[in-house]
Parts: sequence; structure tokens; C-alpha cells
Amino acid sequence: MASLLLLLLLHIFHPQSNVHAFATSSDHDFSYMKSVHSANDLPAQEEYDYIVIGGGTAGCSLAATLSAKYSVLVLERGSVPAAYPSVLNANGLLANFIQEDDGKTPAQRFISEDGVENVRGRILGGSSMINIGFYSRANPEFYRNSGIQWNMDMVEKSYQWVEDSIVFHSELVAWQSFFRDALLEAGIRPYNGFALNHMVGTKIGGSIFDDKGRRHGAVELLNKADFKNLRVAVHATVEKIIFSSNASSLSATGVLYSDSNGESHTAFIRNRGEVILSAGAIGSPQLLLLSGVGPVPHLSSLNIPVIHPQSHVGSFMADNPRNNINFVIPFPLNSTTQQAVGITKEYYIEGISHKYPFPFNPPFSFLPNSSSPLDLSLAIISGKFPGPLSNGFLWLASSADVRTNPIVRFNYFANPADLSRCVAAMRKIGDILETEAMHRFKYRDLKGSKGFKFLEMPLPMNQSDDSSMEEFCRKTVTTFWHYHGGCLVGKVVDGNFKVMGTSSLRVVDASTFTTTPGTNPQATIMMLGRYVGLKMLQERSSQSN
Ligand SMILES: Cc1cc2nc3c(=O)[nH]c(=O)nc-3n(C[C@H](O)[C@H](O)[C@H](O)COP(=O)(O)OP(=O)(O)OC[C@H]3O[C@@H](n4cnc5c(N)ncnc54)[C@H](O)[C@@H]3O)c2cc1C
Ligand SMILES: *[C@@H]1O[C@H](CO)[C@@H](O)[C@H](O)[C@H]1NC(C)=O
Ligand SMILES: *[C@@H]1O[C@H](CO)[C@@H](O)[C@H](O)[C@H]1NC(C)=O
Ligand SMILES: *[C@@H]1O[C@H](CO)[C@@H](O)[C@H](O)[C@H]1NC(C)=O
Ligand SMILES: *[C@@H]1O[C@H](CO)[C@@H](O)[C@H](O)[C@H]1NC(C)=O
Repeated sequence: MASLLLLLLLHIFHPQSNVHAFATSSDHDFSYMKSVHSANDLPAQEEYDYIVIGGGTAGCSLAATLSAKYSVLVLERGSVPAAYPSVLNANGLLANFIQEDDGKTPAQRFISEDGVENVRGRILGGSSMINIGFYSRANPEFYRNSGIQWNMDMVEKSYQWVEDSIVFHSELVAWQSFFRDALLEAGIRPYNGFALNHMVGTKIGGSIFDDKGRRHGAVELLNKADFKNLRVAVHATVEKIIFSSNASSLSATGVLYSDSNGESHTAFIRNRGEVILSAGAIGSPQLLLLSGVGPVPHLSSLNIPVIHPQSHVGSFMADNPRNNINFVIPFPLNSTTQQAVGITKEYYIEGISHKYPFPFNPPFSFLPNSSSPLDLSLAIISGKFPGPLSNGFLWLASSADVRTNPIVRFNYFANPADLSRCVAAMRKIGDILETEAMHRFKYRDLKGSKGFKFLEMPLPMNQSDDSSMEEFCRKTVTTFWHYHGGCLVGKVVDGNFKVMGTSSLRVVDASTFTTTPGTNPQATIMMLGRYVGLKMLQERSSQSN
């Protein structure tokens, strides 16, 4: 009773943390198609002010921003979203995951050297078109430790630019409200209500899914472009960046890309324009290496001519491990994408529910085959922690073909501090399972005692035992898909995201991050594209004065 009263009070007094308007639920807006062409229809050679490599989560907001004043070409290897309707709706999540990767489908699979299955976006809109949609801004430490002198006013405006069009606040439904109650009962407080900012406590975040489950990914940020200045080429696979050099400087001058018939095209920049790499944390370091910017021994071993020796390209690849507890819900419950999240300094707890079939890497071989759809709902509670401190590397595969996934290793838990944060998060999940709010998800056995029906590994019996908790973390590791690094600020790019030692070349995407921003990165990556675009416009207008 006391706790119920407390919850009621928390409901009434939760702070109104966001004052600006959100997007209103609406149908997909395909206006951007006015600017989209197949690469096959583009000339063999062209010129633009700016060339953005990768029409992904960062690339779309960057390109839209630059188009306000300059001509922009976006080169995206994938197709348009309408060609893969599964990316347009929350109930297509499963289809994206189980679809065979035929080299064109929106989710490109890869397996890291750690043996963990992973995936990256290959479609206009990038990984924001295949993700789970949760939207939450970066933690304050992220800005402080990123090596960037952020203009926080411009950061705020850039977030809002994104949020006004593609971020939604839906009512808490089904599992999400039980989960929220459990987080609070387990002591992750205060309750911050609906909040896009990162705050310690339990909160409800935004989503790029609207209340009808329609996905409004980064591709819809292209609708904010000046269409007469924007050209987006799909099925345009960039093979390498073209450089010109003299004794004193090295500049990017254009790119070489191929269309779906294998025909080569070139595009060059003009008038103090730039090439911007936004090919994601796997694609951007890969393309720098393929273009001859990277560690000399590695490039030489593949006979790639060295354009610029850079020992850090492909270093510091990091991925936040995901460790789950999964259980069967004893009554039918609708699927929910993520809404409630528990935030502490040490770790974050997230949870989703799904009606069978399960959407994400489901090795549940023991589930019975059924000719009729199984009425089975699952809950998944996951722990994530900031960082991670462990990291690895990215190397080109021996074929050195841009279509082949590079070799990547994240070295999960190599740093003991990561392991102890995982243990702390898993202990908190243990507390969550003990809450009254979670009680209704237990099954009664024949003897009348109640317990969860876990899928996969349950938490160790003795949760105060460090070594069994550590073993649990190592054994159940999978990915949160928040991988980053490879072109770090301070190592490969400077504080303005310019590739050090070159001119006219920047990297703007998750590959520049040393740590993961906030509970989930897409908000910050979309903000980043807008932010750097605005900075570039400012820089140029001050130069021309
Ligand atoms: C399954 C999954 C679930 C996730 N869930 C969430 C979530 O709920 N919330 C959240 O905040 N984050 C989530 N994330 C993470 C988030 O989506 C990514 O961190 C983010 O989208 C990465 O943005 P990016 O701009 O760095 O790269 P991307 O969005 O991946 O963009 C890179 C683009 O470059 C293109 N490209 C690459 N190489 C080339 C080339 N050679 N030529 C031309 N184009 C090229 C790619 O096709 C792609 O479109 C999830 C990710 C995944 C995969
Ligand atoms: C070298 O190239 C840079 C950039 O293209 C140019 O600004 C500079 O004048 C060139 N220097 C010489 C010596 O040609
Ligand atoms: C489940 O979803 C269906 C379809 O969207 C909806 O009609 C129904 O009310 C939902 N049920 C619950 C318990 O939320
Ligand atoms: C279950 O279905 C899968 C795919 O349809 C099939 O490969 C598998 O053999 C089936 N298993 C059993 C036990 O029938
Ligand atoms: C649980 O583990 C702790 C630490 O290893 C140990 O001291 C304790 O005796 C264990 N409890 C049980 C019931 O085994």
C-alpha cells in the first residue's frame, strides 16, 4: 500500500522535462523520393559542393542540413525503404532479422571475431531503419569526454530539429508499464516520467515508432532538405575516396563508386567543398583503409598503396555487450518496443516484450514447431553499461573488397571494470525479478509454488558470488548493436571531425565515438549530423566574409 501511494505521488509530480513540440503521429512521408535516383541513372562523372558517403543515421541529417546552401550528393549502397516494407513498421522487425542476407537486404549480417552475431544497416536511412527505435539523448559525461568543444546551445537545437519531425511519445502499454513499476520498486529512482534527456532514475524515452507502429527513421530527415540542392543515389557503393596531393598537402577531391550493374562512376567536389564519410562504425574505417589511409603494415600486406599513414584507423572498436534474462509470459501480451529504461551511473536496464516468434537472434530450438501461430509472449530484460572500456580493432578481409565485411573484434570484457559493471547490472535484474510488479509473470507449478519460466540461462542461484555472476556475463554475451569507434576523435579526426593530416575530408558518424552516448546512441548520431552540418555552414559563411 505504501509503495502504491509512493508510485501515485511520483506520477503526479513527475517533472515536465521537455517543453518543445514532438512529432505528431502521421503516415510515412516519402517526399524525399523527389531527390532519389538509382546510381545506374547518374552520369559517369559529376561535380558537387559536398559528397556524403552513406545515407545513414548521421548522413541523412548532415546532407539535409548542407543542402540549405550547397549542392550535395549522398551515395548510399542500399535501396530505398519502400523496396523493403518490413523496415517501415514495428511488426517488420522480425522479418529484417530472419531475412537471408542476399547482399541487398536491409540488414547486413556479420560475426565479430568474438563469435557474436551482429548486424548493420544497408538501406537509405541506415541502421535507424532496422533498429528498435528507442530514442534518448546522450549522458553529460559523453559531451565532457568526447574531445569536442560542444556548443551546447547548438546541440540542443540540433536535437530539437530531429525530435520535431521523427520522435514520438506514445502511451505506456502492456509490458512497458509493468516493467517501469518494477524498475522503481527495485530502487532505480526517482521517476522522471517522459524525458528525452539522460537522467539518473527511471524514465520513459522517445521512439522513432509512432503510436501506430510506423517507423520514422533518419531517412525522413531528408524531407527537411532543399530538394533542388540534394541528390541521393541509391545502389551506389563507394569503393574509395580519391585524393590529390602535392609536397605540402593531401586533399580529398572526390569518390569512386559503382552502381548495381558494376559500372564505375566518379564524383568530385568543387568550390572548397568536402567529402564526408558517414558510412557507420564498420563502413567508415573500412573505406579509409581501402582508400590508403591507415596503418602501413596492414595496407602493405594487402598491396593497397599508402596515401596517408595513420596507425589508428580501425583501432578502438568497441561494442556494448548485451546480457539478457528472458522469460515466457503466462498470458497473452502484445509486443512492445522499448519505452521504459532504468538509468544509474553504473549501468542501464532496458526491457521489451514480444509475441512469439521472437525477433532477435533466437536460438530457442526447443520451442515447438507449430502450424498455427503460437500464442506465446516473451519478456526480455537487458543490462547495458556505459563505455565499454574494452576495445578491439577492424581490419580489411584479405579480398579487400568493400562488399566483404571487414574483420572486427570487440574484446568484450577484456577490461575487468566492464565485467564488474555487468555483474552489478545483472544483480539489479535479480532485484527486478523479485519485485511485486514482476510477480504476475510467474507460473505456478504442480506443487503450487511460483517461479519464472526462463528461456536460455537464468541468473545464477547465488547472486552474491562474483565468479558465477562473471561467468554468467561472459556466457550470455550478445550485442546491443551500439558498436562504435575506428575513427576516434583525437586519434583519426580532430575536434571538428576532420581527418587529421588531410584536407576536405571529415568523418561524421558513430565511428568517431570513444564511448557510447547515453542508453542508446541514435539520438546523438542524428543530432551529430545536424550539428556538424550547421558548423560547416557557419565556417563557410565566416570564410567568405
Ligand atoms: C538491430 C539494431 C537495434 C538497435 N536499436 C537501437 C535503439 O533502439 N535505439 C538506438 O538509439 N540505437 C539503436 N541501435 C543503434 C543505432 O541504430 C546505430 O548506432 C546507428 O543507427 C548508427 O548510425 P551511423 O550513422 O553511425 O551508421 P548507419 O546508420 O549504419 O549508416 C551507415 C550507412 O552507410 C552506408 N554505407 C556503408 N558503407 C558504404 C559504402 N561503401 N558505400 C555507400 N554506402 C555505404 C550503409 O548502407 C548505411 O546506410 C540499434 C542498431 C541495430 C543494428
Ligand atoms: C598544394 O595543395 C593545396 C590544396 O590543394 C593548395 O592549397 C596549395 O597551394 C598547394 N601547394 C603547392 C605548393 O602547390
Ligand atoms: C493489443 O493490440 C491490439 C492491436 O493493436 C489492440 O487492439 C489491443 O487492445 C491490445 N491489447 C492490449 C491488452 O493492449
Ligand atoms: C521445425 O521447422 C523448421 C523450419 O520450418 C524445420 O527446419 C525443422 O526441421 C522443424 N523441426 C521439427 C522438429 O519438426
Ligand atoms: C554465495 O556466495 C558467497 C560468495 O562467494 C558465499 O560466501 C556464500 O556462502 C554463498 N552462499 C551460498 C548459499 O552458497
